[in-house]
Amino acid sequence: MIYEVGGDRGNGIGLLDGLMTSRAMRRYSNDPVAEDDIWTCLRAAVQAPSGGNIQPYQFVIVRDPDLKQGLADIYRRGWARYEPAIAPTEFPNDGVREGWERNNRATVHLAENLEHVPVLVLLLMPSISMTIHDDEGPMPVGPTHASVYPAIQNFMLAARSLGLGTAMTTLHRIYEDDVRDLVGIPDRYEVLAMLPLGHPTGKWGVAPRHRSAEKITSWDRFGEKRNP
Ligand SMILES: Cc1cc2nc3c(=O)[nH]c(=O)nc-3n(C[C@H](O)[C@H](O)[C@H](O)COP(=O)(O)O)c2cc1C
Repeated sequence: MIYEVGGDRGNGIGLLDGLMTSRAMRRYSNDPVAEDDIWTCLRAAVQAPSGGNIQPYQFVIVRDPDLKQGLADIYRRGWARYEPAIAPTEFPNDGVREGWERNNRATVHLAENLEHVPVLVLLLMPSISMTIHDDEGPMPVGPTHASVYPAIQNFMLAARSLGLGTAMTTLHRIYEDDVRDLVGIPDRYEVLAMLPLGHPTGKWGVAPRHRSAEKITSWDRFGEKRNP
C-alpha cells in the first residue's frame, strides 16, 4: 500500500536520523523495488517546496532492461571523459587519499553496473524561466533548478526511509540529447538528474564532510563565528 499519513510505511527511522545517515549509495542487490515504494517516493517528492507551488518537474521511471542498458551506455561515455578530468594527482595526506579512493571505487562500480540497478529515475525540468518582470525590470527570485532539487532530495530521503538507496547523478547530461532520444523526452525538458534506486548492499552512516557547519556559518554578521 502506498504511504498514508499516520500509516506504518517506512522503517521507523526518525526524520533527522534518516537524513543524517543518507549518503550516495552506489552498490545495489538485484532485488526488485516494489512499485508501491516508488509511488511513496514520488508522493514525497511532490510535497517538496517549489516557487509559487508550480512544481516545474516530471519523472520518468525506467525499469525496461533495454532502456537501462542504453542509459548506462550514455552515462559511461560521460564518465569516461569526466573521470580523467577530475582525478586528483596529489593528496594532502594518506587519509584523504584513502577516502577519495574508496569513494572512487564505489563511483566506478556504479558506472560499470548501472544497467543492473533495478530502477533508474529521470528528473525532467522544463526549459522555462521563473524570473518575473515588472516595470522596473526582472525580479530574479531564483532559477528553475531551485524548484526541482528539493523534490529530488525529498525523493531520495523517502527512499532512505524505506531502506532503499539512491545517488544523485548527472553525468548523463554530457550526452543529454542521446538520453532524450532514447527515452522519447521532448526537447523542452532538461534531464536534470538520474537517480539509481535499489536495495543497497552498503551501510548507512554519517558521511564525512570536511566543511563543518561551524566553518561555513556566520551569526548576525558575515564572518562572526560561534561554536556549538
Ligand atoms: C549535482 C550533483 C551531481 C552529482 N553527480 C554524480 C554523478 O554523476 N555520479 C555519481 O556517482 N555521483 C554523483 N553525485 C553524488 C556526489 O558525488 C555525492 O553526493 C557526494 O560525493 C557526497 O556523497 P556522500 O553523501 O556519500 O558522502 C552528484 C551529486 C550532486 C549534488
